[in-house]
Amino acid sequence: MRRCVCPGSFDPVTAGHVDVVARAAGLFDEVVVAVLTNPAKRSLFSLEERVALLTDAVGGLDGVRVEAVDDGLLVDYCRRIGAAAVVKGLRSGTDFAYELPMALMNRHLTGLETVFLPGDPRFEHVSSSLVKEVAAHGGDVSGLVPAGVWAALQERRDR
Ligand code: PNS
Repeated sequence: MRRCVCPGSFDPVTAGHVDVVARAAGLFDEVVVAVLTNPAKRSLFSLEERVALLTDAVGGLDGVRVEAVDDGLLVDYCRRIGAAAVVKGLRSGTDFAYELPMALMNRHLTGLETVFLPGDPRFEHVSSSLVKEVAAHGGDVSGLVPAGVWAALQERRDR
Protein backbone atom coordinates (compact mmCIF):
# COMPACT_ATOMS: atom_id res chain seq x y z
CA MET A 1 0.00 0.00 0.00
CA ARG A 2 1.62 3.27 -1.13
CA ARG A 3 0.04 6.24 0.60
CA CYS A 4 0.73 9.90 -0.11
CA VAL A 5 -0.38 13.15 1.44
CA CYS A 6 -1.52 16.24 -0.45
CA PRO A 7 -1.17 18.96 2.20
CA GLY A 8 -2.32 22.55 2.07
CA SER A 9 -4.45 25.22 3.61
CA PHE A 10 -7.04 24.93 0.81
CA ASP A 11 -8.72 28.24 1.60
CA PRO A 12 -10.60 27.33 -0.53
CA VAL A 13 -9.88 24.28 -2.74
CA THR A 14 -9.57 25.23 -6.42
CA ALA A 15 -9.87 23.32 -9.70
CA GLY A 16 -6.06 23.21 -9.77
CA HIS A 17 -5.98 21.42 -6.41
CA VAL A 18 -8.64 18.95 -7.57
CA ASP A 19 -6.59 18.17 -10.68
CA VAL A 20 -3.45 17.47 -8.62
CA VAL A 21 -5.32 15.26 -6.12
CA ALA A 22 -6.92 13.26 -8.94
CA ARG A 23 -3.54 12.76 -10.63
CA ALA A 24 -1.92 11.77 -7.31
CA ALA A 25 -4.66 9.15 -6.95
CA GLY A 26 -3.47 7.66 -10.24
CA LEU A 27 0.05 7.28 -8.84
CA PHE A 28 -0.61 6.10 -5.27
CA ASP A 29 -2.94 3.53 -3.71
CA GLU A 30 -4.27 6.10 -1.27
CA VAL A 31 -4.22 9.88 -1.15
CA VAL A 32 -4.86 11.68 2.12
CA VAL A 33 -5.69 15.33 1.54
CA ALA A 34 -4.45 16.97 4.73
CA VAL A 35 -6.02 20.31 5.57
CA LEU A 36 -3.73 22.43 7.72
CA THR A 37 -3.69 25.96 9.04
CA ASN A 38 -0.92 28.13 7.65
CA PRO A 39 -0.13 30.76 10.30
CA ALA A 40 1.26 33.02 7.58
CA LYS A 41 -2.19 33.28 5.97
CA ARG A 42 -5.44 34.64 7.36
CA SER A 43 -8.13 32.22 6.27
CA LEU A 44 -11.58 33.07 4.95
CA PHE A 45 -13.03 29.63 5.70
CA SER A 46 -12.70 27.78 9.01
CA LEU A 47 -10.84 24.47 9.13
CA GLU A 48 -14.18 22.63 9.30
CA GLU A 49 -15.53 24.55 6.28
CA ARG A 50 -12.37 23.88 4.27
CA VAL A 51 -12.59 20.16 5.07
CA ALA A 52 -16.27 20.07 4.09
CA LEU A 53 -15.65 21.88 0.78
CA LEU A 54 -12.76 19.52 -0.03
CA THR A 55 -14.70 16.41 0.92
CA ASP A 56 -17.47 17.54 -1.40
CA ALA A 57 -14.94 18.17 -4.21
CA VAL A 58 -12.63 15.11 -3.97
CA GLY A 59 -14.12 12.76 -1.37
CA GLY A 60 -15.84 10.78 -4.14
CA LEU A 61 -12.58 9.97 -5.95
CA ASP A 62 -11.35 6.39 -5.55
CA GLY A 63 -8.70 6.07 -2.85
CA VAL A 64 -8.97 9.68 -1.68
CA ARG A 65 -9.87 10.85 1.81
CA VAL A 66 -9.75 14.25 3.48
CA GLU A 67 -8.47 14.89 7.00
CA ALA A 68 -8.02 17.94 9.18
CA VAL A 69 -4.61 18.28 10.81
CA ASP A 70 -5.01 20.90 13.49
CA ASP A 71 -1.56 20.85 15.03
CA GLY A 72 2.07 19.78 14.65
CA LEU A 73 4.53 19.16 11.88
CA LEU A 74 3.53 17.68 8.54
CA VAL A 75 6.39 15.16 8.79
CA ASP A 76 5.03 13.82 12.11
CA TYR A 77 1.56 13.47 10.64
CA CYS A 78 2.96 11.64 7.59
CA ARG A 79 4.95 9.28 9.82
CA ARG A 80 1.87 8.62 11.98
CA ILE A 81 -0.29 7.60 9.03
CA GLY A 82 2.52 5.82 7.15
CA ALA A 83 2.67 8.12 4.13
CA ALA A 84 5.58 7.52 1.75
CA ALA A 85 5.53 10.97 0.18
CA VAL A 86 3.99 14.40 -0.06
CA VAL A 87 2.53 15.36 -3.45
CA LYS A 88 2.36 19.01 -4.51
CA GLY A 89 1.40 20.75 -7.73
CA LEU A 90 3.64 23.42 -9.26
CA ARG A 91 2.17 26.14 -11.44
CA SER A 92 5.37 28.08 -11.93
CA GLY A 93 8.92 28.78 -10.85
CA THR A 94 7.49 30.96 -8.10
CA ASP A 95 5.68 27.94 -6.68
CA PHE A 96 8.90 25.94 -6.91
CA ALA A 97 10.80 28.64 -4.99
CA TYR A 98 8.11 28.53 -2.26
CA GLU A 99 7.88 24.73 -2.12
CA LEU A 100 11.54 23.72 -2.39
CA PRO A 101 12.67 24.85 1.10
CA MET A 102 9.69 23.05 2.67
CA ALA A 103 10.43 19.89 0.68
CA LEU A 104 14.10 20.00 1.70
CA MET A 105 13.24 20.72 5.34
CA ASN A 106 10.78 17.81 5.43
CA ARG A 107 13.43 15.50 3.95
CA HIS A 108 15.97 16.81 6.46
CA LEU A 109 13.61 16.16 9.38
CA THR A 110 12.49 12.59 8.67
CA GLY A 111 13.53 11.68 5.12
CA LEU A 112 10.00 12.40 3.88
CA GLU A 113 10.09 12.81 0.09
CA THR A 114 8.09 15.31 -1.94
CA VAL A 115 6.80 14.55 -5.44
CA PHE A 116 6.09 17.62 -7.59
CA LEU A 117 3.48 17.40 -10.34
CA PRO A 118 3.39 20.08 -13.04
CA GLY A 119 0.11 21.96 -12.74
CA ASP A 120 -2.31 21.82 -15.64
CA PRO A 121 -1.70 25.02 -17.69
CA ARG A 122 -5.48 25.58 -17.77
CA PHE A 123 -5.21 26.49 -14.08
CA GLU A 124 -1.90 28.33 -14.13
CA HIS A 125 -3.56 31.61 -13.08
CA VAL A 126 -5.74 30.01 -10.41
CA SER A 127 -4.86 30.43 -6.73
CA SER A 128 -7.01 30.37 -3.61
CA SER A 129 -6.10 33.99 -2.85
CA LEU A 130 -6.99 35.25 -6.36
CA VAL A 131 -10.32 33.43 -6.53
CA LYS A 132 -11.24 34.89 -3.12
CA GLU A 133 -10.31 38.39 -4.21
CA VAL A 134 -12.12 38.18 -7.56
CA ALA A 135 -15.23 36.61 -6.02
CA ALA A 136 -15.33 39.23 -3.23
CA HIS A 137 -15.60 41.92 -5.92
CA GLY A 138 -18.34 40.11 -7.80
CA GLY A 139 -16.19 38.43 -10.45
CA ASP A 140 -17.13 35.06 -11.92
CA VAL A 141 -14.73 32.27 -10.91
CA SER A 142 -17.28 29.51 -11.32
CA GLY A 143 -15.15 27.50 -13.78
CA LEU A 144 -12.08 27.71 -11.60
CA VAL A 145 -13.38 26.19 -8.37
CA PRO A 146 -15.64 23.23 -7.49
CA ALA A 147 -19.37 24.05 -7.55
CA GLY A 148 -19.65 23.95 -3.75
CA VAL A 149 -16.83 26.46 -3.38
CA TRP A 150 -18.42 28.82 -5.89
CA ALA A 151 -21.67 28.65 -3.90
CA ALA A 152 -19.79 29.28 -0.63
CA LEU A 153 -17.91 32.26 -2.11
CA GLN A 154 -21.16 33.80 -3.34
CA GLU A 155 -22.77 33.20 0.03
CA ARG A 156 -19.85 34.98 1.75
CA ARG A 157 -20.13 37.95 -0.62
CA ASP A 158 -23.88 38.30 -0.03
CA ARG A 159 -23.58 38.14 3.76
O1 PNS B 1 -1.41 25.67 1.00
P1 PNS B 1 -0.26 26.22 1.80
O2 PNS B 1 -0.73 27.28 2.77
O3 PNS B 1 0.87 26.69 0.95
O4 PNS B 1 0.30 24.97 2.66
C1 PNS B 1 1.44 25.10 3.48
C2 PNS B 1 1.43 23.98 4.53
C3 PNS B 1 0.20 24.12 5.41
C4 PNS B 1 1.42 22.63 3.83
C5 PNS B 1 2.74 24.12 5.38
O5 PNS B 1 2.75 25.39 6.00
C6 PNS B 1 2.88 23.01 6.43
O6 PNS B 1 3.34 21.94 6.11
N1 PNS B 1 2.47 23.30 7.69
C7 PNS B 1 2.48 22.34 8.78
C8 PNS B 1 3.55 22.68 9.82
C9 PNS B 1 4.92 22.27 9.30
O7 PNS B 1 5.23 21.10 9.12
N2 PNS B 1 5.76 23.29 9.02
C10 PNS B 1 7.09 23.09 8.52
C11 PNS B 1 7.08 22.94 7.01
S1 PNS B 1 8.70 22.60 6.37
